[in-house]
Formats: sequence, structure tokens, C-alpha cells
Amino acid sequence: MKLAGRLDRIEPFYVMELGKAAAQLAASPACDPAQGGRRMIRLNIGEPDFGAAPAVREAAARAVAGNLPYTDALGLPALRAAISNWYEQRFNLQVAPERIAITAGASAGLQLACLALFERGDEVLMPDPCYPCNRHFVTAADATPRLLPTGAAERFQLDGNQVRAAWTDATRGVLLASPSNPTGTSIAPEVLADIAGFVRERGGVTVVDEIYLPLSYDARFGHSALSLGDDIVSVNSFSKYFGMTGWRLGWLVLPPALVPAIERLAQNFYICPSTIAQRAALAAFEPASIAEFERRRAVLRERRDFIVPALNDLGLTVPVVPDGAFYAWMDVSRHHADSWSFAHELLERAQVALTPGRDFGVADPQRWMRLSFASSMDDLHEAVRRLREVLA
Ligand SMILES: Cc1ncc(COP(=O)(O)O)c(C=O)c1O
Repeated sequence: MKLAGRLDRIEPFYVMELGKAAAQLAASPACDPAQGGRRMIRLNIGEPDFGAAPAVREAAARAVAGNLPYTDALGLPALRAAISNWYEQRFNLQVAPERIAITAGASAGLQLACLALFERGDEVLMPDPCYPCNRHFVTAADATPRLLPTGAAERFQLDGNQVRAAWTDATRGVLLASPSNPTGTSIAPEVLADIAGFVRERGGVTVVDEIYLPLSYDARFGHSALSLGDDIVSVNSFSKYFGMTGWRLGWLVLPPALVPAIERLAQNFYICPSTIAQRAALAAFEPASIAEFERRRAVLRERRDFIVPALNDLGLTVPVVPDGAFYAWMDVSRHHADSWSFAHELLERAQVALTPGRDFGVADPQRWMRLSFASSMDDLHEAVRRLREVLA
């Protein structure tokens, strides 16, 4: 069968490949305590271990008992209003519900935004390392992602000078994530303001993926890019802070002029986001649910405060303390020249699954590895113990 040429530019998602290898090993005798093996500890997965809040599960059960018609393509008006209210309560920001488009996860939001904004001949700037799918959303829109190398000094984020130097007549905008996956580090507010100001001057668009923003541990960074003006496109999700990964629900906050375009694309591509998930998500904004999410945020912060010094101690150096999300981005070069082989070695020898840097960029990925601390404190302690044993 002849496949479309764009497939040649879309790489496999290696995190998933490593996940498959981990799952295979986990099902083998080496990981079966009954056969003398030991349980696999999976710190490779970008998924909190908590799941949806109790009120959300109950609301879903009620929704299933009823009729589940399509909703508006942009989502249930009540959910758009609840999100608008959340921005006011949490970030002191006025975001009109009409600017909010509910999507099938942040993934669909990113896809719709890229298809609405970019086309053949356009370039989009993004940091290296970054979330691997981002460059593929841009590629799928026939545009070209341009990855700009970043380092610890810039918190693995772009800065204004870099964007100015890289901008060409073909550049249409920047695609950032703050806090970032894989680094858990945010862009400093003044740096983001500088970039957004320049991009605006050039008639481009600033897209900021803020799906980890509610999981922020540092008041200096916990601000939404939406405070910079209503020309910013912000991507968000129920997957991470709200613990609803498999429910496939997210949202976009859009410049008013972009709303009809996104609506048209959503209508055609998937009619509407899941009705069950939307009805359930309404309960995520009840005070008891928010209290639960805040409790979890404190738990994740405690895990970070344990794991980052422990990794540094093992010579798996985390050069910038993550201020959000649940990832530690570590330099493994003291132990191995190639993080891809090293990840496989640790899988075999320690039964600890980590994610090699390969997915996240092209600048020096073999030096880096991502650890997700969205697992129990017991697992993190055990993982450190095993890593110490293997690295000794
Ligand atoms: C930075 C970033 N953006 C988007 C996504 C996709 O999220 P969703 O589950 O809402 O589609 C992820 C998932 O890990 C992510 O890390």
C-alpha cells in the first residue's frame, strides 16, 4: 500500500517503544516475584498514578446511565464556563468562555491549532528538547518544525535573542511548553513576555502548551501565558493535574478570531469531544475535587524533593530543579555515553524503566534521560536503591 509522504517525516514515538519493551519484560519471569524475579518499576510513563477524583468517577457513572448525545463541537457550555471560572479563581485571569474550545485531549487541541495556523512553507520554532509529538503536529500540517538547542542556563527553554536570531520570512510562530515535558522546567515570565512581544511584532503566533501549569511548585513560574494578551494560544488538558489521561479531554484558549476556524475543524474531524468525559469533568471543578488535586500536587512536590537530590547523589545529574510537572531531566553521561543503550541496560539489570532522551530532540539526546516521579514514594525509594546497586 502506498502511504502518504508525510509519514516519512513522522518518527515513531520511542517512549512507547521502550514502554513496550518494559511491558514485555514485566510479564516475564525476571519480573515475577513468584518465580524469584522482582517487580518492574516504571518511571518512564508521563501519567500520574492517582486517576480521576471520586466525584468525577461518580459523575461519569451517572452520565453513562443517561442518553449521551453529541455536544457542541466546542464543548458543553457549562464546562467552558467552569474552566473560565477556574482561570479566575486560580490565576486571577478573565478568560471568556467563548474563547475556550474543549478538545479530545491536549493532543487534539495541538493538532487543530497547528492545522488552523500553519501550512506548507511555514516554519515554527520550538525548543530542543521538547515534547516529541509537537514537531509532528507541525509536520502533519505540512509546515516545518525548527528545533533550537537549549541548555540548563535557559532552563531548557527558548529565549528572546534566540527567537530573534532564528526568525526568517518563513517563520510563523513559536510552540512552547511551560512547564516542559521532558524537563519539568518553566520559561521565566519575563522571557516569555519578551518572546511573545517580538512574535506579535512580526505578525506570528505564540502557542504555549500549559498542560502542566496547574502542577507548578514555584510561585515565580506558576503564571499563565494568557496574562500576556488575548492573542496567545494556550493548550490545556484534563490529563495531568486532573488525573484523567484516558478520558481524552483537554481544551484550548484561543484568540477570538481563531474560534470559528477551530470550531469548523473540530466539527469535521471528530464532531465533538467525548460527552461522558465532559459531563464527568464538570465535577473536577467542585471544591472537594480541587482540594484533592491540590493534595496530590503537594504529594508530587514531596516526591520531587526526594528524587532530585537522590539522582544527583547517584551521579545522574539534574542540572535544573523541575519547578512543575513530574519529570526530572538528568545528564547520564557520567555513567554511559548513550542513554538509549543505558535505558535498556537499566531495564534489564535494575528492572527500572526510564525514558532515554532520543524522542525529545536532536541536540545531544544520548546524554539525557527522563525520569517520571508520578509513581509512589515507595517505588521511588526502591528505584533509587536498585540504581545505586547497579551503578556502584
Ligand atoms: C507537553 C505535553 N503536551 C501534550 C500532551 C498530550 O496530552 P493529552 O493527554 O491531553 O492529549 C502531553 C502528554 O504527555 C504532554 O506531555
